[in-house]
Order: sequence, then C-alpha cells, then structure tokens
Amino acid sequence: MPADGVLTTIDSETDHQQAAKDAFAAAGVPHQRTRVITGRAQDVLARMTDGAYDLAFIDGDKGEYAEYVAAATRLLRSGGVLVLDNMLWHDRVAGPAVRDVATRGLRDLGKVLRAADEFVTTLLAVGDGLLVAVKR
Ligand SMILES: C[S@@+](CC[C@H](N)C(=O)[O-])C[C@H]1O[C@@H](n2cnc3c(N)ncnc32)[C@H](O)[C@@H]1O
Repeated sequence: MPADGVLTTIDSETDHQQAAKDAFAAAGVPHQRTRVITGRAQDVLARMTDGAYDLAFIDGDKGEYAEYVAAATRLLRSGGVLVLDNMLWHDRVAGPAVRDVATRGLRDLGKVLRAADEFVTTLLAVGDGLLVAVKR
C-alpha cells in the first residue's frame, strides 16, 4: 500500500476480526491504516464508495463469491485489481465430473470473469488457486 493507504477488512465473525486487529497490532501497523468492519459483506459493501478502491481480495463464503464480485467490480477504480482465493477449490474446479454447488459456482464465475470485457484475468496455480483480474 502507499504510505497513506487504508486497508478495509470485512468479516461477519467478531472473533475473526479481533484476530485481524491483534495481527495488525503485532505487525506494528498503525490503527489509522486499517478499518476493521464486522458485518455481512453484502451489506457493508453496498455502503462503500464506488471506484474508490485499488484492490479487492475475496476469501469469504464460496457460495457468495458472485455477489462479492459484483460489489467489488463497482468499488474498484479503473486499473484496480480483483483477487479471488480458492478458485481451484482443492482441484475440484478442474474436474468436469465434480458438480456440487460450490464447485460449479466457482467454475462458472472463473469463466464469466475470463470472458468479461471489463477485466483482464489470469488464474495463478498458487495455493488453492488465485484468480487475479485487472479492471480496465
Ligand atoms: C476462509 S475464511 C478467510 C480467512 C482469511 N482470509 C484468512 O486467510 O485467514 C472465510 C471468512 O469469511 C467469513 N465470512 C463468510 N461469509 C461471510 C459474509 N457473508 N460476510 C462476511 N464475512 C463472511 C467467515 O467468517 C470467515 O472468517
């Protein structure tokens, strides 16, 4: 982040947000550089400012990814980066016979983003698959 950057993190679980606060403090990150919001992502994202964010990292409920992506697309500036974790979903996304709801949702979302004119998209085989998309 730039020196004046602010990281906003949203999670519905209070104890997870406390863990994030503890980690930031342990790393010596000044409190004014982070905004830790407890709430349902879809509700919080709807109140955030359009085109005001450089990067959105998504790692919530896999069944809700498409909703997070729709909101993040609105929030990112042109040139901003969308990052989605678990896009290989324990190698299930690559297996056409694997048809459970979460796997199909992530598989379809990857295809939608790859085809979207709004993004330049790549999938990195890092960890459980990191999809990185730059907003035009
Ligand atoms: C896989 S964990 C991510 C943890 C973190 N990114 C990490 O790597 O340590 C998923 C997180 O999403 C949160 N979550 C799930 N659904 C959510 C929602 N609708 N709104 C906000 N947070 C949600 C869960 O509470 C959980 O902390």
